[in-house]
Parts: sequence; C-alpha cells; structure tokens
Amino acid sequence: MGEVDPAFIQDLEHRPKLAIIEAEGIPLIDLSVDAVSDGSTLVSDIGDACKKWGFFQVINHGVPLEKREKLEKAAREFFGQPLEERVKIRRAEVRVSGYSNTEHTKNVRDWKEVFDFTRKNPIIVPASARPDDKQVVEWYNQWPEYPPQLREVCEEYAEEVEKLCFKLIQLIALSLGLPADTFNGFFKDQISNVRLNHYPPCPAPELALGLGRHKDGGALTVLAQDDVGGLEVKRKSDGEWIRVKPTPEAFIINVGDIIQVWSNERYESVEHRVIANSEKERFSIPFFFNPAHYTIVKPLEELTSEENPPRYRPYNWGKFFVTRKGGNFKKLDVENIQISHFRVPESELANRFEKAVSVA
Ligand code: OGA
Ligand code: NI
Repeated sequence: MGEVDPAFIQDLEHRPKLAIIEAEGIPLIDLSVDAVSDGSTLVSDIGDACKKWGFFQVINHGVPLEKREKLEKAAREFFGQPLEERVKIRRAEVRVSGYSNTEHTKNVRDWKEVFDFTRKNPIIVPASARPDDKQVVEWYNQWPEYPPQLREVCEEYAEEVEKLCFKLIQLIALSLGLPADTFNGFFKDQISNVRLNHYPPCPAPELALGLGRHKDGGALTVLAQDDVGGLEVKRKSDGEWIRVKPTPEAFIINVGDIIQVWSNERYESVEHRVIANSEKERFSIPFFFNPAHYTIVKPLEELTSEENPPRYRPYNWGKFFVTRKGGNFKKLDVENIQISHFRVPESELANRFEKAVSVA
C-alpha cells in the first residue's frame, strides 16, 4: 500500500478535516452495576445512550482482559507476516472468512486489511442474493498456519464477547420497555462474525480513509480499539464527525441497522468511519452480533401502533447480508444495499397516521 491508488481517494465532501473534535459526550457505562437493584440507572443510561448517540463505551464488561490481549498480539503477528503469507488464506469473493486487503466501502477502497472469521463454524447463509433462490450454503472458517495459536485465541475471544452481546441485547430490550429475553431467540443460529482490522500508515490521510463512512448492518457491534485512535462517529445533533477517544480495556458498542428497525427508529444506527494515520498503524477488532440468516427483520409489534405505524417493510436478513458482502470486495456502479431501501416513505406514513386518527 505504498502509493495512493485513485481507488482509495474519497470524494471531496467525504475527505476528513484534520481538526479533531473529541467526544467527551459519548457515554461511558459501567456494566458491573446491577440493572434491577433499587435506584439503578443502568437500563435508562443505556437507553439514553442508544437514543442520543447510537454509541457508548462499556467498562467492567466481563470479558477477561487476558483473552483480548492474546488476540491483539496474535493479530499483530498475523499482519506482520509478508504479504505472500497473508494472501494464502485470501477470502473467496462472497464468503466472510479469511484475509482481504481490497475492501471497498461505498465503492471507495479502504486503507486497511482484514482477517474475518465467524463465531459459529460453519454458518448457514443463503446461497445467493437472488430473492427467488431458496438454497442455503455453509461457510467455513479458514485459518492461517501462522501464528499457530490464532484459531484458539480467536475462538476463545469470540465466546466471551458473545456473552457480552447477550447481556447488552437484554439491557437494550429492557430499555425499550420489553422483557429482557425479547431478542434472544433471533440469535439461536446466529451468523455473527469477528474481524481483525489492520490500518497501516497511510501517506495521504487527507485523501483516503482507513474505513469509509458506513452504518453497521447487523444488530449490535462490540469493538475493541487500540490506543492509536481514529474512529469517528457522526453526532446526531449536528452531523459533526466526533473522535472516539480510546479508553483502555473498554469496548465501544454501537447500535446496528437491525436494532433501528426492530425499535421502529427509537434507536438509530449511526454513521461512523476511521481516519487514516500517516505515522502509526492501528488495530481494531469488531464483533458483529448478527441474528440467524432466516430472520425476517421488521419493527416489533410491541413498539408499533396505529399512531406509530411500522416505518420499515420486512426484509430477509440473510439476503441482506449476502448482498452486502457481495458489494464489499469490488467497486460497483450502484449503491450497496441499505436499510433505507426498506423505509416506508414519509408521505405514506402520514397517510396511515391520518387514517388512524380519523377512525379513533
Ligand atoms: C467496522 C468499524 C471501526 C474501527 O469494521 O465496521 O466500524 O475502529 N470499525 O475499526
Ligand atoms: Ni462499522
């Protein structure tokens, strides 16, 4: 990644400003607090963070530090190998597992390389993105020879972070006024995946991005970032890009598109991106908590009413996932799939609301 290929260059409006605004505002939540004890504000704190930012950080989250550190070390070892070793487990086009250094976000190439694996092995997903194709296929993880412990440390880390995801999804359910286990069933045959990100130093951080602006398509993301920094979140109140300051041992949590739809937009999936760095390399590890492929994602009935009609048409999560993966490894001429494509137009919502009011 020595010279800057035009494929990496962002349109003017998406190039980063070099001034940094640091987010004192992104809430830091202590998960050791008992959610149901008298006077506990844990559930409402999570609800407020989801509503206001779509992002928060957690401490005392229960994931052993040692497992995270082992994985961070193994990731450095894997990406530290010569390219010819890394590409030995290059990801096949659509499949999520393996190495890639050609990812695109919104059709611009990212200044990063990744190694992906899934929490469950194999995962079952639709064979193709075509709506009429009912076939499913199994995707298996692939592991490099070096470092030899990579598989074990990845699996152990993912197991721990999955527990945290269940804890968070239960707190989020409570914060929406729903029973804690409301969402659990969707994750029975989860297709969650974990990514090791390596952002090498970039000679042109004013032109390219480590990772272009995007929203996460799954339910929830749990991100470990190192101490370099570079993650920016689009502040809902004014659309400014705000830097998330690295907090040692904390995880950054963000609401994905699926929670936006389930909650009928009480919570929103917020845009974020990663600024490239001309001097330092950066590592991060997101865990994408994804429901089973056959999940039909739609606003929960408990959260909709005649006055507050569903704002999304139901969609098949597996098809969404496979379509997204198909668009990420090459430059396309069309926009990649987004949940906005399933949004019910405002005019139609207003009509339904008027009807509901007039019969009431
Ligand atoms: C992602 C992501 C942020 C980061 O991979 O979806 O937003 O800091 N990563 O690497
Ligand atoms: Ni993301």
